[in-house]
Amino acid sequence: MSFFESMKNRYTTKVYDKSKQLDPKKVEELKNILHMSPSSINSQPWQFVFVQDQELKNKLAEASYFNDEKVRNCDTLVVFRRVNNIEAFEKDIQERLPERTNTYYQQFLKPLPDDQIKSWFDKQVYLSIGVLLGACAEMGIDSTPMEGIEVDKYDQALGNDEFATLVAVAIGERHEDDFNQLDRVPKVRKEFDKVVKSM
Ligand SMILES: Cc1cc2nc3c(=O)[nH]c(=O)nc-3n(C[C@H](O)[C@H](O)[C@H](O)COP(=O)(O)O)c2cc1C
Repeated sequence: MSFFESMKNRYTTKVYDKSKQLDPKKVEELKNILHMSPSSINSQPWQFVFVQDQELKNKLAEASYFNDEKVRNCDTLVVFRRVNNIEAFEKDIQERLPERTNTYYQQFLKPLPDDQIKSWFDKQVYLSIGVLLGACAEMGIDSTPMEGIEVDKYDQALGNDEFATLVAVAIGERHEDDFNQLDRVPKVRKEFDKVVKSM
C-alpha cells in the first residue's frame, strides 16, 4: 500500500478494543521513529512518554474530558511534552549543537519573550505528532490525537517539571463497533484545489 493509501485509510479512532494488544515490537519501533523526528536547528525540545501502565492510564483518563474512554482502553498512550525551562534548553543546545545553529538561536529566537520561545518549542513538538500519526498509518496501528486533555493534571501525574504536557496520542486497535470507522463516517477534507497550489 502506498503512503497516500495509508493516510487515506487512517482515521481518528474513537473506541478502542481493550482486549487487543499491540505487538510490543511495533511499539518499540514507534519509539525509535519518534526519536528520529526532525526539528528546527535539531533543537529536539521534547520528551515522548509512552504510558502502558493501566493505573496511570486510568488516572490520566480522569483528566481527559470526553477522551476518557480512549485513554483508558487504548494499548498505549503517548504523551507529548515540551521543554519547560528555557535556560536548561539553552545550556543543552550550547553543548550539543554546532556553532552555526547556536548562532541562529541566539540571533532569531533568544531575543523573543519567553512565551514566544516556548511557542517555538511547541511547533517542534507538534511536528513530531505528525510523524507518529503517519507512522501509525503506515504500520496499520489505530490512533487518536488528543488536545482535549487537562495538561496540568497530566503534568502532576507524570512528574518531572522539566517538561510540560502539550497533547497526547492514544494508539491501539479499534473496537469493531467504533462509530467513526471510514465505512460509517467517510473522510472529509476541504477541496484539494483550495488547499494545494501548484505554481
Ligand atoms: C492536534 C489535534 C488534536 C485533536 N484532538 C482531538 C481530541 O481531543 N479528541 C478527538 O476525538 N479527536 C481529536 N482530534 C482529531 C481530529 O478531529 C481529526 O483528526 C479530524 O477531524 C480529521 O479526521 P481524521 O483524523 O479521522 O481524518 C485532534 C486532531 C489533531 C490533529
